[in-house]
Amino acid sequence: MRRRALTPRHLLAAAVVAAFCWQPAVAGLSIEEYLPPQEEGLDEETRLQRMREIEQEREEARRRAEERERQLEEDRRRRQAELEALPPGHRALLEHCVACHEERALRRTGRSRIGWRGVVWRMEMFQGVDLSRDERRLIVRYLAEEHPPTAGRIARETAMAVAAPAAVFGGVAFWLLYRRRSRK
Ligand code: HEC
Repeated sequence: MRRRALTPRHLLAAAVVAAFCWQPAVAGLSIEEYLPPQEEGLDEETRLQRMREIEQEREEARRRAEERERQLEEDRRRRQAELEALPPGHRALLEHCVACHEERALRRTGRSRIGWRGVVWRMEMFQGVDLSRDERRLIVRYLAEEHPPTAGRIARETAMAVAAPAAVFGGVAFWLLYRRRSRK
């Protein structure tokens, strides 16, 4: 196998690796080593004093971080409790639908149970929503109860339910009739 010559590209790669390795090496200064450069050459008393101050600052920062951590944990627990207090259908909705829609957007139209079933079916077919049978049932029931159809919507859905099959049957009948006629 031919040995490759050292190219500028190799050198660049080595420099990048060295730069990354250098970081942790200089990041781990102990407190004794750490003093800002402008504070070098102080007498021993002041130096100790400064170090105590720095140690105190670090202690405070640690305490603040712990406090923040505690608060986040508390928030998380409260949200979890709130979520668990919701009706199961609402919870499933938040879990599966709100990634893509704001809840507000879902409240815009009321639908019958069949209408909501159709929407959820479409979301499963075309948007990759993955629901268990129970979740589907809960979501559809929740939506139908919380966002029932308006009178106008019922009229429209009923009209569609009648009109769509009528159009299909009518079309087929018309076509058969037309074919029979034109054959004579
Ligand atoms: C992966 C993203 C995604 C998820 C998750 C999702 N949807 Fe949708 N949804 C869409 C997109 C995109 C549209 C617009 C295209 C369409 O209507 O099919 C839409 C449209 C809708 C509409 C409007 C339909 C209309 O004709 O008025 C409703 C209502 C709806 N989604 C409800 C839901 C419900 C309920 C769930 C939970 C079971 C859900 N979506 C989960 C992406 C998503």
